[in-house]
Amino acid sequence: MNYENILTEIKDSILTVTLNRPKQLNALNKAVFAELEHIMTNLAVTDEVKGVIITGSGEKAFAAGADIKEFAHFNVEEGKELSADGQQIFKIIETFNKPVIAAVNGFALGGGLELAMACHIRLASDNARFGQPEVSLGVTPGYAGTQRLTQLVGKGKSLELLMTGAMIKADEALNLGLVNYVVTQDELISKAEELLKSVIKQSPVAVAGVIKCVDAYYTDGIDGFNTEVEEFGKCFGTEDFKEGTDAFMNKRKADFPGK
Ligand code: CAA
Repeated sequence: MNYENILTEIKDSILTVTLNRPKQLNALNKAVFAELEHIMTNLAVTDEVKGVIITGSGEKAFAAGADIKEFAHFNVEEGKELSADGQQIFKIIETFNKPVIAAVNGFALGGGLELAMACHIRLASDNARFGQPEVSLGVTPGYAGTQRLTQLVGKGKSLELLMTGAMIKADEALNLGLVNYVVTQDELISKAEELLKSVIKQSPVAVAGVIKCVDAYYTDGIDGFNTEVEEFGKCFGTEDFKEGTDAFMNKRKADFPGK
């Protein structure tokens, strides 16, 4: 597949995915979603890739939301389909078995914030702005913003942000726990790479297990405590476990095979 709306680069085992519609503030249309899904299910899964950074091109926006011009004339069924499609792609990101970091370089609004929230960790540049302004358009968020924002910042603040549609600055997002770090725009990608590298050097099997266990906490009908018992137990049959414990015992650095 040719990517026309997204740039990709693999360097030092890190796949950087850059949303690339800067004139439309990287708004998420159907073409972007098709490309993003293809990237996550074809490129990001290869052995060459050990972690993913998602960011936006230009200095102004990560993504200013779903493409309003594209959905403005949708009917009820098309609206439901748009929401379900977006949620399905963001679920692929949330449950991805390698670390995915959102490097939020500007506006992360509506679907843009929802994309960032589907990533495992969020970093922001100091010019970043966050919000779920959907109510100002007469819609609710559709890509799981009501769910993930509530998980990340708690019910009261989530309802305030969702009902007012207010935009907040990076330092407030940091205070709320919506992002983990705020840095300058120049430092954003190197900070994301640094963080990703500190994950990548760990056991990929154990990191995938951690992602699965944490997701289990938020999944209805699944007991996260049981998931942890299963994942912990499974580790004892892996080469990563043998390598990690052997390295500890022999006072050397582990070199994990990732299986
Ligand atoms: N969809 C489509 N186009 C968008 C867009 C979006 N979400 N956001 C910005 N653009 C376009 C603008 O229409 C404009 O295009 P033209 O030059 O062709 O007119 C271009 O990007 C630049 O935008 P502005 O001129 O508006 O830039 P600004 O600096 O004056 O304002 C902004 C920036 C405050 C982010 C403003 O663009 C804005 O409010 N954007 C919409 C934000 C929004 O409501 N997002 C939620 C979308 S709905 C959603 O996401 C639903 C869901 O959950 C699934």
